[in-house]
Amino acid sequence: MMPDLIFDTYDEGERNAIADAMSVMEAAFDPLFGEAWTSAQLAGVMMMPGTWLTIARIDALPLGFALVRSVLDECELLLLAVDPLWRGRGVGEALLRDSLLRARRRGITSMNLEVRSSNNAIKLYEKTGFEYVHRRPGYYRGNDGQLHDALSFRIDMRI
Ligand SMILES: CC(C)(COP(=O)(O)OP(=O)(O)OC[C@H]1O[C@@H](n2cnc3c(N)ncnc32)[C@H](O)[C@@H]1OP(=O)(O)O)[C@@H](O)C(=O)NCCC(=O)NCCS
Repeated sequence: MMPDLIFDTYDEGERNAIADAMSVMEAAFDPLFGEAWTSAQLAGVMMMPGTWLTIARIDALPLGFALVRSVLDECELLLLAVDPLWRGRGVGEALLRDSLLRARRRGITSMNLEVRSSNNAIKLYEKTGFEYVHRRPGYYRGNDGQLHDALSFRIDMRI
């Protein structure tokens, strides 16, 4: 991992990291798939109990973020993104491992996620121990109208 990388975590109700997450969001998601959230969507989720946002930074510069929402002892990885300029250097994996660690510390026993079946992020999820659960055919609609399957993954953190 990059030695200068730090993680700042913001719990529900904290709004001061939304602009930093949005700067990564706008760069990270391919507009073709329409997967980026708006600032209003992110602010809305940040008001929900059990949500936390982690920003990976070097100094003050945001390189990536992870957004997790928890309910009781389960949580969902809602978004994981790294600025294209900083990819391939372990930032995404470090953010994911940090999110798993924080979830464990909160007494959470499983993390779920859904991802487009053609997304390279699947390699990262499998590498970190997530297991395939099921496929939802045509679940996402891209901005070009094309449908994409969603795959759901889960990691049991009690193991
Ligand atoms: C997915 C994403 C967060 C990965 O970030 P990253 O910092 O480049 O990932 P890392 O450098 O930590 O890579 C960790 C592992 O992920 C896998 N991986 C990541 N990107 C990959 C790619 N483009 N192709 C193949 N494998 C990839 C590899 O297994 C890699 O491990 P390795 O280097 O030992 O082979 C980043 O590509 C991204 O922001 N994508 C757009 C947003 C998105 O689709 N997010 C996921 C759904 S919310």
